[in-house]
Amino acid sequence: MAKPKFTTHTGMVDILPDEAHKWHYVESVIRKTARLFHFQEIRTPIMEPTELIARGVGQLTDIVSKEMFAFDRGDDHYVLRPEGTAPVARAFVEHNLQQRGGTQNLFYIGPMFRAERPQKGRQRQFHQFGAEVIGADDPFADAQVIAFMMHIYKEIGVKNMTLKINSVGDPESRKAYKSALQEYFKPHFEKLSETSQERYEKNPMRILDSKDEQDQPFLKDAPSILDYLNEDCEEHYAKVKSHLELLGIDYKEDDRLVRGLDYYTKTAFELTSTDLGSQDALGGGGRYDLLIEEIGGQKTPAVGFASGIERLMIACEALNLPLGEPDQPDVYIVCWGEKARLWALEHQPEFHKKGISCMIELAGKSMKAQMKDANRNNARFAVIVGEDELEKGEFTLRDMKSSEEEMVSLSKILEKLSAE
Ligand code: HAM
Repeated sequence: MAKPKFTTHTGMVDILPDEAHKWHYVESVIRKTARLFHFQEIRTPIMEPTELIARGVGQLTDIVSKEMFAFDRGDDHYVLRPEGTAPVARAFVEHNLQQRGGTQNLFYIGPMFRAERPQKGRQRQFHQFGAEVIGADDPFADAQVIAFMMHIYKEIGVKNMTLKINSVGDPESRKAYKSALQEYFKPHFEKLSETSQERYEKNPMRILDSKDEQDQPFLKDAPSILDYLNEDCEEHYAKVKSHLELLGIDYKEDDRLVRGLDYYTKTAFELTSTDLGSQDALGGGGRYDLLIEEIGGQKTPAVGFASGIERLMIACEALNLPLGEPDQPDVYIVCWGEKARLWALEHQPEFHKKGISCMIELAGKSMKAQMKDANRNNARFAVIVGEDELEKGEFTLRDMKSSEEEMVSLSKILEKLSAE
């Protein structure tokens, strides 16, 4: 019987060796930025308790109600994390991180999982980088996480972006706003999409996030949250904007921006790009002053963002931005015969000791195939080793760019290559 052929599940993507350098590059920019701002890395498990995500992200969100990869094992309920904020908040509470003192300025990079319908820029396993500042209600913190996010895109050279910001208020401001929205949508209820009708009762603000054609005519005249903000929220929002101006970060106010996660309070923001398709958000975030209390901690203000790495890469491709360079070996030892191969195996560590990357062919192929392999791998130099060379103690060092060759001893080769 024919053996089955396996492929990944829909929306799960392999990152193949020829793309690895792009990921390394993006990750290195994120880490460098984190170092510049002194944000420290936090790594949380890929699986979290289902209840944490349900409570944290919100029962009514698409993420929790439709998109969770969840399963039970014994009495434990596991979910593949759909995002990083609730897990980081859990870790903060579980390990009493406030005891470290100051604000917790954290960042993360890792895979997230959402059972969405895959399309360009939307996968079921995707990767986010993000940052969270826990323990500050000052608008300074909001400005800092936005500056952190923008720094990464600027460093990579991404263009055609818009930073949209809004305030989604606090429970007090939102109470009055929700009633005003319900009042406004009431006469149009029958004409709203099914999803918006579902949202009407419990979370009418999410109607504003609808992309459904059917809802569009009713959105533009809907009341604005900005008219319902209390003094505290209004002042906070004004300060975030003035801090962004001080930082020279352009933004566009968008009072329809509500975001798809329930934990936000006050500041909400999204970075969009015209180089992406319909999934046009490079990243997003905001303040979540009630989340930590919601998951069992003490009331602790916090703010953060997360960005999709795949979407960043799509934008870079559209802009023809190279993302790093593929790794190339400094030297490839081309061996003629078994004795030469053994010599290469024995002497490879001397190259490594000097920090020179040195490749040897592992399948015992002919010399011609080894030269081809050296070319394919873009080796900077080849050292050609045969019986004669071994006897003389001098080897052909071939510059693979200029094709120049010289006969030199191993110590000369090491000296030359470590100076390169
Ligand atoms: P989010 O808006 O759900 O926010 O996701 C942030 C970013 O992750 C999106 O803007 C997008 O670039 C990327 N992303 C989301 N879903 C997918 C997907 N299915 N495929 C590819 N990329 C995707 C959050 O996750 C919040 N935790 C952000 C945050 C941090 N808020 C406060 N702190």
